[in-house]
Amino acid sequence: MLVEAQDISVAIGGRPVLDSETLSCRPGTMTALVGPSGSGKTTLLHCLGLLLPVDRGRITIDGDVVTDYGAAARRRFWRDHAAFVLQDYGLMDEESVAFNITMRASPLGRRVLGDRERLAQALGRTGLAGREEEPASHLSGGEKQRLALARAIYKQARILFVDEPTASLDAANRTMVIDLFTDFAASGRTVIISTHDSEIVDACESRHEVASGRPAERLVNNQ
Ligand SMILES: Nc1ncnc2c1ncn2[C@@H]1O[C@H](COP(=O)(O)OP(=O)(O)O)[C@@H](O)[C@H]1O
Ligand SMILES: [Mg+2]
Repeated sequence: MLVEAQDISVAIGGRPVLDSETLSCRPGTMTALVGPSGSGKTTLLHCLGLLLPVDRGRITIDGDVVTDYGAAARRRFWRDHAAFVLQDYGLMDEESVAFNITMRASPLGRRVLGDRERLAQALGRTGLAGREEEPASHLSGGEKQRLALARAIYKQARILFVDEPTASLDAANRTMVIDLFTDFAASGRTVIISTHDSEIVDACESRHEVASGRPAERLVNNQ
């Protein structure tokens, strides 16, 4: 799906955080949102994923003006098209790895439901095969990151929103998650990653520098 933002601005607590950001994220590619800490990468990612409303400007997805969406349309977008790999992983720690991937269980939660083949594939691709019965709380940081990605693979999400995926990963896990994002994009999906990891930026086809919302700083940066 083609995600386009035109002149979007956001203020938080009366302070401008995003000021007229314009970017376009194409299907089949990875886009890196880059900038120093505090520049608004996470805020921009949340706006593009419809987790945070914008104050000005508009966002379209495949031409649909999503900034006009009401709560029900947003929920449909999250359910049908989007997957998130955010910094707190968004996992249910007490639930099993398998449940965290399929998000479906029998009444009373006795048995994880969902498509077994797709589940096996998501576990295999992320190196979590054999771990499906374990609670998510048993996983290391890198494994949790991969579990969040396994959910996106299982879901066959068309857009993946990722926030600083490699911040706390060792070299092996880093390479593995970067390869997984690359594969995800190569299968025609749209991958948007907030990051300051140059290895990820190098793997991305496009790169968007998030300018500071403070006009004075922006002027200096542009000179
Ligand atoms: N919920 C919030 N409440 C107050 N300030 C926030 C909130 N979210 C973000 N900010 C502020 O907005 C700016 C951009 O934050 P963020 O998008 O997290 O930047 P980055 O991801 O580039 O480090 C920062 O100055 C941050 O303090
Ligand atoms: Mg951030």
